[in-house]
Amino acid sequence: MGAGGLARLLTGWRDGTVRGEAGHTALAARITSLLADGRLAVGTRVPSERELAAALGVGRGTVAAAYDRLRESGHLHRRRGSGTWTALPATAPAAASTAPVTPFAPMGDWVPGRRPDGPEVIDLAHAAPWAPMEAMAEAGARALAELPTHLAGTGYDVLGLPALREGIAARLSDQGLHTSPDEVMVTAGAQHAHALVARALVRPGDRVLLEQPTYPGAIDLVRHVSARPVPVAMGERDGRPGWDVEAMAAAMRAGAPALAYLVADHQNPTGAVMSAETRAAVVAAAGRHGVPIVVDDCLREMWLDAPGPPPLGAYAAAAGGGTPVITTGSLSKTVWGGLRIGWMRAPRTLLRRIAAARSSDDIATPVLEQLVAVNLLGRLDEIVATSRRMYAHRRDHLRAALAAALPEWHAPSPSGGFSLWVDLGAPRSSALVEAAARHGVHLAAGPRFGTGGAFEQHLRLPYTLSTDALDDAVARLADAWDALGAGTATLTTVV
Ligand SMILES: Cc1ncc(COP(=O)(O)O)c(C=O)c1O
Repeated sequence: MGAGGLARLLTGWRDGTVRGEAGHTALAARITSLLADGRLAVGTRVPSERELAAALGVGRGTVAAAYDRLRESGHLHRRRGSGTWTALPATAPAAASTAPVTPFAPMGDWVPGRRPDGPEVIDLAHAAPWAPMEAMAEAGARALAELPTHLAGTGYDVLGLPALREGIAARLSDQGLHTSPDEVMVTAGAQHAHALVARALVRPGDRVLLEQPTYPGAIDLVRHVSARPVPVAMGERDGRPGWDVEAMAAAMRAGAPALAYLVADHQNPTGAVMSAETRAAVVAAAGRHGVPIVVDDCLREMWLDAPGPPPLGAYAAAAGGGTPVITTGSLSKTVWGGLRIGWMRAPRTLLRRIAAARSSDDIATPVLEQLVAVNLLGRLDEIVATSRRMYAHRRDHLRAALAAALPEWHAPSPSGGFSLWVDLGAPRSSALVEAAARHGVHLAAGPRFGTGGAFEQHLRLPYTLSTDALDDAVARLADAWDALGAGTATLTTVV
């Protein structure tokens, strides 16, 4: 990161200075809190003392003393011959990122398969929609009736049923991403598509660029294929989370990642939507540095206020298709995750390569589920319209309940998706998750959404439950927060 970029992040760093506090203490404290909430990614190379001092307009000694403190506390470390890099100390709140509660590791009396919306345990760890019962039942009945016409074949079509691929291609084309069915492969959910792409394009030791924060499944996948995450911190635009194209381009140039994974629409967990010009700039940067992009569009259709710009993949096509952009999607967020139907759209040659590798794995997607999906696609506009109204109402309800019960928390309104990305005002996310579990609320801590233990100051709160359940959850969260004495906690000050 350049000195200008870090100085921008440090804007107002003296504001919290208490009387008599030395400049270097305040500077170190601000850098520590930037790291704790993820605005400054762990593993970032920081500018030299001289450069940062010039950018901040302070003496070099102030920055040198601040860096010394940060090295002592484990927030910076020097690599011989390659400068000074950000880190999180093993004993800092980062350690709590290994807390047993994760979105994917249910604990305590939470029963997998049973969605606890009742008085015992309230599940706020998962941000997934409720199944539209009537539409699912109807699509299921139709699919069963259609199945006999498929029984004469083997059912082994690695790319998926032609009717489903046509339906997916038509839907993507309608959104502005012109797609032909032979550019589509049906998968067992979007995450399966990501795993297939990673297997084809990423080798052990490769780097994969990720937004910071991001979807935990993406972080897990990068680790699973023994690749190294290159986190690029989300920036801010007009007071809302957004993408820092400069930082992304710098990471592409310096790290030569094998892949960039991005969620351009209703980013999980921030809810951010990439602007049209950022989409074009990201595609241009990826083209310049030869980095293929996987854009995860599975939340794209879940806009609650207004639709966003065309899919990111459309910008690659407009730019001449030089950057391989693989678009993934699924019915998990528009209909139901248990359906396990997703897809990838990729350039034909790449798609064939990925399909060839897949055939040694799961061979093909189940035919019956694909028939259910074909039938659901016919009603998708209606299903999604109903969901949008319901989740917009629940989002507003949860924000109002939080504002009344926990006014020190800051929960910006996302324009889509299923969750709030709450700033707790203090780095207590992991502690809160533990306290909330004692009050019967199952949560995912902020650090689960980043690498290196960042986001201790954040919490993802889904608004997928009924308004009654949300009210109950907020009351329990307020009790848990009180029990922590969290109101008295302050941002970590390096002493
Ligand atoms: C951003 C994102 N991508 C992918 C997935 C997984 O999608 P699927 O159920 O289609 O595998 C999720 C689920 O939470 C998600 O939030």
